[in-house]
Amino acid sequence: MTGRVAGKTALVTGAGSDGGLGAATARRLAEEGATVWLTDIDAAGVQARAAEIGGRARGLVHDVTSETAWDTVIAEIVAEGGGLDILVNNAGIAILRMIEALTPQDYARQMEVNMTSGFLGMRAGVAAMRAAGRGGSIINLSSVAGLVGIPGVSAYAASKAGLRLFGKAIALETAKQGIRVNSVHPGMILTGMQSVALKDNPDQFAIITAGIPMGMMGDPADVANMVLFLASDEARYVTGAEFVVDGGLTAQ
Ligand SMILES: NC(=O)c1ccc[n+]([C@@H]2O[C@H](COP(=O)([O-])OP(=O)(O)OC[C@H]3O[C@@H](n4cnc5c(N)ncnc54)[C@H](O)[C@@H]3O)[C@@H](O)[C@H]2O)c1
Repeated sequence: MTGRVAGKTALVTGAGSDGGLGAATARRLAEEGATVWLTDIDAAGVQARAAEIGGRARGLVHDVTSETAWDTVIAEIVAEGGGLDILVNNAGIAILRMIEALTPQDYARQMEVNMTSGFLGMRAGVAAMRAAGRGGSIINLSSVAGLVGIPGVSAYAASKAGLRLFGKAIALETAKQGIRVNSVHPGMILTGMQSVALKDNPDQFAIITAGIPMGMMGDPADVANMVLFLASDEARYVTGAEFVVDGGLTAQ
C-alpha cells in the first residue's frame, strides 16, 4: 500500500458525527494508507462512519472521559495492529454561555470532555507508542478559541487552551523517543451540524463569513489535511507546535 501514512495505525476519537472533523480526518488517513480506528460515544454513528470509509476502517464505542475505556480501546488496537502510530484527540463538546449562566456543572463537564480526555488519551497513547518503540504522532484538536478570547466561550476556551499547553509539555517529555505532539486550531469550519443551521438561516452565513479574511468558512477536509500532514513522516521535525486553520481569522 502506498500513501503518505501507509502502514501506520491510527486512532481518531469523536469520529462518529456525520460531516464532522473526526470522520473527515479518519477518511483522509485511510485514503493515504493508514489502518484507522474510529471511536465515539455514539455507537451507531461510529459504525456508520467506519462503514462509509470501508477497507480496514473499524469503529469502536469509546467514552474519552473514561480511563478504563482508553485502556480497553488501546489494548484492542495494539493486539490487532501491533502498535499505535497516530492518535488524534478530536472528540469534544462546546458549552457556550455567558459567565452568569455558566454553572459549575457546565464548567466541570466542559473540562472533562475536552481536556481531561486529552490527558487520559495522551497518557495511554504515549505508553503504547513507547512500548512499540517506533515513535508516533499525537494531534490534539484545539480551536482558535484556545488562542484568543471570544465572549460566551470562556470554559470551552479554557479547555482548548489547556489542551494546547498540556500537549507542549508532553512533546518535550517524549521528543527523544520520536513521539511528536502538536495541536490544530480550527476556526469556523462547516461541519454537518452548522450546515443544517445555516441552511435555515442564510443571513447568519453572511454575518459569520464577513469576519473571516478569506470570506468563507472552512471545510472539514481543510482540517483533515493539516492533521494528515502532522501524522505523516513529512512532519518528522515538527513537535510541540500549534497550527491554525482559520482562513486568516486570528491574524487580525
Ligand atoms: N467545527 C468547528 O468549527 C470547530 C472549530 C474549532 C474546534 N473544533 C473542535 O474539533 C473537534 C471536532 O468538532 P466537530 O465540529 O467535528 O464536532 P462534532 O460535534 O460534529 O463531533 C464531535 C464528536 O465527539 C463525540 N463526543 C462527544 N463527547 C464524547 C465523549 N465523551 N467520548 C467520545 N466521543 C464524544 C460526539 O459524539 C461527536 O461525534 C472538537 O473537539 C471541536 O471542539 C471544531
